[in-house]
Amino acid sequence: MLRIGLLGAGRIGHVHARAISAHPQSELIAVADVVKESASKLAAQYGVEARSNEDIIGDAAIDAVLIATSTNTHSDLIESVTRAGKAVLCEKPVDLSLARAQACRNAVAATKRPVMIGFNRRFDPNFAALKAAVDRGEIGKSELLSITSFDPAPPPVSYVKVSGGLFRDMMIHDFDMACWMMGSLPQKVTAIGTSIVDPEIGKAGDVDTAVVTLTFANGRIAVIKNSRRASYGYDQRIEFLGSEGLLSAGNVLENTVSKATKAGVVSAKPEYFFLERYMRSYAAEWAAFVEAVTNASAVPVTLDDGVNALAVAEAATLSAKSGTTVDIASVMK
Ligand SMILES: NC(=O)c1ccc[n+]([C@@H]2O[C@H](COP(=O)([O-])OP(=O)(O)OC[C@H]3O[C@@H](n4cnc5c(N)ncnc54)[C@H](O)[C@@H]3O)[C@@H](O)[C@H]2O)c1
Repeated sequence: MLRIGLLGAGRIGHVHARAISAHPQSELIAVADVVKESASKLAAQYGVEARSNEDIIGDAAIDAVLIATSTNTHSDLIESVTRAGKAVLCEKPVDLSLARAQACRNAVAATKRPVMIGFNRRFDPNFAALKAAVDRGEIGKSELLSITSFDPAPPPVSYVKVSGGLFRDMMIHDFDMACWMMGSLPQKVTAIGTSIVDPEIGKAGDVDTAVVTLTFANGRIAVIKNSRRASYGYDQRIEFLGSEGLLSAGNVLENTVSKATKAGVVSAKPEYFFLERYMRSYAAEWAAFVEAVTNASAVPVTLDDGVNALAVAEAATLSAKSGTTVDIASVMK
């Protein structure tokens, strides 16, 4: 049984508390949050203790820590927890700064403790099945990947200001998905972004609508489209074209009823947002972490994967600002 401390009792902290408690081989021991009331509320829900970060990190009886705090705290906490000899599952992104994330990776290497990054979409059953089919060679040589990822509604501008921007905060999931599907980092990144959904997002220095083209070795291409607003819900689709065919994974709908009349055929909307659409993926992600730590095998999403996705985000941010294509090698140094 893995004994777990949870840092961060916000939106995603609640999701993780549920996954930890539901798993037969992990036990939630304590919850921490800088806002003590948030920690106490979540802890009470699971009948566990609310403690400070330091208490949890220093407790020899806790085996692993799940970091679900705000992004700007991730690298510092990953370093503290691994220094204390514990395993980590940390939410994306590793940091707002690529240089800081790289330093964190180097510090963690010295501790030899496992660190997994929360790219939960890899554990979505549909995307996982698509990737498995690619790996079995079912579409031959992979050529053109297309990822659509639209949120139902933009976040408040106060969130945008501290998020690190759309490329680091939102499209980072799609950068990881593209690297995972293609099996490598891209060589070149070209990004275009605008703030046509909410001009206030533009005033805050961010974009809310963006298209990024990634060029991989052997001329393979990935195109990623993000928007902070899709009036019909959370739009999450992937298409992968190869020399022998096309794989596609569509949206998961709120129900499977469709109505066909003279006026046309109507079906339900996509599940509303990530808490609905990806709930199964968070449980599968947690199960994969527990299995890796329990068996002392490699975690399926590494700190390197987190640093790589952040490097692509940094290149995309630079490309959108400069209007030029950015070589990944130039940001990785
Ligand atoms: N994988 C996903 O699908 C997904 C979804 C949402 C958020 N996230 C990531 O999870 C992280 C948290 O996002 P959220 O939406 O839950 O935000 P949130 O603001 O709802 O929760 C963050 C919590 O962390 C607490 N906190 C901040 N600094 C802390 C510190 N030093 N120590 C302890 N607690 C601290 C805050 O008080 C807050 O309660 C972000 O990095 C975000 O990018 C990932």
